[in-house]
Amino acid sequence: MRTPFVAGNWKMNKTIAETRDLVSAMSSKLREISGVEKVLCPPFMSLAAAFALLEGSGIGLGAQNMHWEEKGAFTGEVAPGMVKELCGYVILGHSERRAYFGETDEIVHRKLIAAQKFGLTPIVCVGETLEQYESNQTREVVTRQTSLGLKGVSAEFAPRIVVAYEPVWAIGTGRASTGEAANVVIKDFIRPAIAELYGEQAAQAIRVLYGGSVTGANAAEFFSQPDVDGALVGGASLKVDDFVQIVSQSKS
Ligand code: 13P
Repeated sequence: MRTPFVAGNWKMNKTIAETRDLVSAMSSKLREISGVEKVLCPPFMSLAAAFALLEGSGIGLGAQNMHWEEKGAFTGEVAPGMVKELCGYVILGHSERRAYFGETDEIVHRKLIAAQKFGLTPIVCVGETLEQYESNQTREVVTRQTSLGLKGVSAEFAPRIVVAYEPVWAIGTGRASTGEAANVVIKDFIRPAIAELYGEQAAQAIRVLYGGSVTGANAAEFFSQPDVDGALVGGASLKVDDFVQIVSQSKS
């Protein structure tokens, strides 16, 4: 049995003051929902403020990115040990990082190894672009991103990894995939790629989320699928009622 998992990726939204307001408005409602792992991922600048409000709430905190080196001359970057002071989770390889900041599978992999070293639960994002989707390359792309991104961790750490299948064409477009289509990608492409690396047991233990225009209205369709274990939510995670509705529909 995989515990359902829902994370809100706030992306580059909310100042520290706005973060305090949003976390305060959400946390009491989210606390009441059990049977699901809940994680908020505000911007780096807001993590300390969110941490202070979430301590002891059972709601996890995640960063949206990190560097793989432990410290040094990397102006503007944030090290894994700094993330670990406040967070239990870190999103790695989001498609926006891949598209706008040149993150390759190799970079995602280095960050995964750093997450293992620092005891952070990584949420590794994979997914095909519209062009790749239209030219039937979904299997190839998602398999490659999973194999190269997830390789090389220990057998103990592997089941802790969370994967998010986020088709790029569905992100922020209002054009979500369907539950059935997402389930096929997860069951037939992503879990087999994990099984190839770590065996069938790990492939069945790892939570795989769907992300891309998830709302309170369509979340249940995804959660009803056997291989979809939750959601990575962007836009709707900035709205209290929408996010609470999504989380409440995910529980086991
Ligand atoms: P939207 O929910 O806004 O489509 O974003 C999805 C996403 O990229 C989450 O990481």
